[in-house]
Amino acid sequence: MIMAFAFKTNKDVRKIMLSGIKPTGRPHIGNYFGMMKQLVDLQGEYETYAMIADYHALNSIQKGEEMRSLITDLVIDYLALGLDPKKVILFKQSDVPAHTELCWIFDSIVTMPYLMRAHAYKDAEAKNKEINVGTFNYPVLMAADILLYNTDIVPVGSDQKQHVEYARDIAEKFNHIFGETFKLPTERILEDVKTVPGTDGRKMSKSYGNTIPLFATDEEIKKAVMGIPTDSKGVQDQKDPTTCKVFALHELVGTPGELEALKARYLQGGIGYKESKDLLVERMKRFIGPLRERRDEIAKKKDVVVELLARGAKEARMVSELKMTDIRKKIGVTL
Ligand code: ADP
Ligand code: TRP
Repeated sequence: MIMAFAFKTNKDVRKIMLSGIKPTGRPHIGNYFGMMKQLVDLQGEYETYAMIADYHALNSIQKGEEMRSLITDLVIDYLALGLDPKKVILFKQSDVPAHTELCWIFDSIVTMPYLMRAHAYKDAEAKNKEINVGTFNYPVLMAADILLYNTDIVPVGSDQKQHVEYARDIAEKFNHIFGETFKLPTERILEDVKTVPGTDGRKMSKSYGNTIPLFATDEEIKKAVMGIPTDSKGVQDQKDPTTCKVFALHELVGTPGELEALKARYLQGGIGYKESKDLLVERMKRFIGPLRERRDEIAKKKDVVVELLARGAKEARMVSELKMTDIRKKIGVTL
């Protein structure tokens, strides 16, 4: 048994958790509350796989130098959030050839009309975008990511629900054709943060430019918060906390007492949006500041990233190869 595997034994009866994130830019607080926090919070409870989905990112990041630094940054981000490489198998997709191999096998049983029902594909179609084959096939590679490790739960935000459903469907179809092989995974979506709103009220997303970066500087926090659009109600007017975009972000970082007090002031009148935003800036800084400082410290030791990923790759390859041996037998390519 290799050292790095010390935390995983044959008697390990823990359930298995896996999630992935693409290295496509700085993570934002939507990524954190929707997905990354779940992985960190549950890492001891489950046998955990944290994957950097670099081959999924290749659909949009097509400069080698940029990809390299985005991957490194994401590993540092995870470490700063408290992901513990001694407890978790932290690896990148491209280091484990079984992912693309299994993707090809699944491609042979998945139909095009079925993939054409994917939200991401339909959105692209509606915009008349000419998407690449990798984007069309995205759900199949993601199914391979999940199913290779006998995953029980997949922590994600609500936008990924359909992708986990695809993984389940593909597992069932394979099991039906070739015999019981894959466990059916379930998404783990937290109701309160299933879609964290951005500064414009739409889903917070890197592609909408409405994010608060998870490791934002104080200036960035201030700029993002002050730019949140509000209605024209004056200080004394009563305000509706359920529709206010500023209040929605307070809910992520305020204590229960703070939120209760703020809600009361919204309903009574007597607080202006400017004051609410000032408070939000302070509370965001209180939340982000320590994370950013931790990240700055870890970023000084960038060299550990390569070593950590190499270790994670070794472990993920061992687990996935074992699974592939069974899969290759089932489909009949092993003589
Ligand atoms: P983005 O839309 O910003 O490109 P990603 O697609 O990289 O985000 O998402 C990475 C993970 O973060 C996924 O599990 C996704 O569901 C989750 N996530 C992204 N945005 C949000 C959000 N606004 N609220 C909750 N979860 C989110
Ligand atoms: N599609 C996911 C996203 O955009 C990233 C991802 C790739 C993933 N493979 C995965 C998430 C496997 C969970 C499990 O966020």
